[in-house]
Amino acid sequence: MPIAETERLIIAKVTLDDAAFFLELMNTPHWLKYIGDRNVKTLEAAREHLKKGILKSYKTDGFGFYKLLLKSENNKVIGISGLVKRQQLDHVDIGFGFLPEYEGYGFGYESSVAVMSLAKDTFKLDKIVAITDPINKNSIKLLEKLGLKLEKKVDPFDTGKELLLFAKDL
Ligand SMILES: CC(C)(COP(=O)(O)OP(=O)(O)OC[C@H]1O[C@@H](n2cnc3c(N)ncnc32)[C@H](O)[C@@H]1OP(=O)(O)O)[C@@H](O)C(=O)NCCC(=O)NCCS
Repeated sequence: MPIAETERLIIAKVTLDDAAFFLELMNTPHWLKYIGDRNVKTLEAAREHLKKGILKSYKTDGFGFYKLLLKSENNKVIGISGLVKRQQLDHVDIGFGFLPEYEGYGFGYESSVAVMSLAKDTFKLDKIVAITDPINKNSIKLLEKLGLKLEKKVDPFDTGKELLLFAKDL
């Protein structure tokens, strides 16, 4: 079910039928390098991950991560963008990820502008944050292009590895 549309993309809620896509996305080199290995290696593990994560967040928070369908490629799912309320952070976090062949075409920007509008107008959020690995230059450039500013260094998951927290008032 679409919740928004941009020039090139349809933004829709994730379902359990998207497990195969998540299995692929969560094992791409950039996901493993910059976000981490969530140990989702089978279709069944992907389904469980969706149930405990994104599908649960739709129920508890009203929002979550959304899949992005590329209109020009017969609505192929190419990535995700969305909102997540993490216990460790005071504000709702925006995040994104694309299959490698769809990086660098402005889809991150295009989808995130729409997701930030939803955050403000539909979910009535007054601030958005994002956390990223300091070596993830493409993510940092996208966050800055979206108007988020570096606020501080954080270690929200107590891993001993510093991450950067970006923020923007909506
Ligand atoms: C980070 C990520 C989401 C960016 O999405 P994207 O669709 O590739 O980004 P966009 O094409 O919208 O680019 C936004 C800006 O970032 C920079 N950028 C993004 N990808 C780039 C690339 N491959 N090479 C050079 N610059 C890049 C550009 O400055 C661009 O601005 P411009 O178009 O005005 O030049 C994407 O690279 C990705 O999926 N990475 C793997 C997963 C990940 O790291 N997620 C973020 C975790 S915090």
